[in-house]
Amino acid sequence: MRKDTLTITDNRTNISYEIAVENDTINALDLRQIKVNKDDFGMMSFDPGYTNTASCNSEITFVDGEKGILMYRGYPIEQLAEHSSFLEVAYLLIYGDLPNRTMLENWEERVMHHTYIHENLAKLMQTFRYDAHPMGMLIGTIAAMSTLHPDAKDIHNNTSRQKQIWRLLGKLPTVAAFAYRRRIGRPYNYPDSSLGYTENLLYMMDYMNQSDYQVNPTLAKALDVLFILHADHEQNCSTSVMRNIGSSYADPCSAMSGAAAALYGPLHGGANEAVLRMLTEIGSLDEIPGYINQVKDGKFRLMGFGHRVYKNYDPRARIIKNVAEKVLEVTGGNPLLDVALELERIALEDDYFISRSLYPNVDFYSGIIYQAMGFPVDMFPVLFALGRAPGWLAQWLELIDDADQRIARPRQIYTGNVKRDYVPLEKRT
Ligand code: CMC
Repeated sequence: MRKDTLTITDNRTNISYEIAVENDTINALDLRQIKVNKDDFGMMSFDPGYTNTASCNSEITFVDGEKGILMYRGYPIEQLAEHSSFLEVAYLLIYGDLPNRTMLENWEERVMHHTYIHENLAKLMQTFRYDAHPMGMLIGTIAAMSTLHPDAKDIHNNTSRQKQIWRLLGKLPTVAAFAYRRRIGRPYNYPDSSLGYTENLLYMMDYMNQSDYQVNPTLAKALDVLFILHADHEQNCSTSVMRNIGSSYADPCSAMSGAAAALYGPLHGGANEAVLRMLTEIGSLDEIPGYINQVKDGKFRLMGFGHRVYKNYDPRARIIKNVAEKVLEVTGGNPLLDVALELERIALEDDYFISRSLYPNVDFYSGIIYQAMGFPVDMFPVLFALGRAPGWLAQWLELIDDADQRIARPRQIYTGNVKRDYVPLEKRT
């Protein structure tokens, strides 16, 4: 008869242990009973980068990396990208189900009502140097938000939590747009809450008193779809940081600032910026084979390729490729798209990439769209952060309400010196 247990025999002692198995997973603490001597600490598992460690149960996002499947709350990403809107997806991720019309309108109204930022924040942003990276500005400004909204610390109060969610989602586009305007020396353009979420972002960035100004609906829609695709991706690096910081019961602004910092790195959300810089450096089709050879020689990585979870084509990259075509119809061609397409074609036929299951990821084509829309390269990770914000918040809420969760605190294997005595300075050689 089938038994949902694992039997482990410790060959050091010849003792066998029976450990419960649930969802193909063992509880790591069950290993601790495995000892040679009674006073031993007990067995641990070693897993740098958490490649095979589940840190939580989650009902939010499902990824099947082998088959290239991504679902939010059970809805396939392809359907959400085609039929939904970013704010509706944000609602879905955070509350678990799609809203009805009244709920959606109320939710949109609440988020858009919170788009103005405190004037102190606007002034704070003026103090960044003219060439400050907008991601650094975003990280610093979100952290500063917690000083202006001390009620955010009341994380066990549901009413307060809801308010922080509206606030963070509402204010992030304003912070992003202000960071952009600050850098190019233009005055801030305050939010217009009668506009859609991404429409308002584009308006705050672009509007300069033109009498006939209108946000291009195709571009606003494209950005909305890109945000949907970025909205959550289970326990990725930045989301894990959001949960880790949240596990100490820090307020969600501080936690989100940390999550944004994790996203900033070029192996994560900063990859879209790195891809664009890479494509620009390659420059033309005939340079591609030489570039790929250098990647294969281990000189650097092909940015926008590979993923910890996807060992198949990233479904988001496929959708983004289609969005790119629509955007380029409006903005005109981007010569880097030809370089990207050829780079993908050559890489996908090359044994180095095939044998390691390296496919284009979400960042490979997103930068081309952002660039065609006129965003400067260093705004790309900021756009990723805006898209990922509902996922961070949904995962944070799930963590706070999860009775299994405790403060994040991994173990280590100490490999340093054994005890030694302090040597006075004059006796040290
Ligand atoms: N270019 C060349 N080789 C690569 C790449 C790449 N982009 N990615 C992985 N490899 C190789 C790597 O050298 C290793 O080869 P070997 O077995 O010979 O040592 C093998 O593939 C496995 O790589 P890994 O580093 O063990 O894989 P990982 O799961 O730890 O890393 C990753 C995942 C996304 C950090 C990595 O693929 C990478 O650095 N990609 C480029 C950066 C990038 O595009 N990041 C965005 C990820 S998607 C958006 C997001 O969620 O942030």
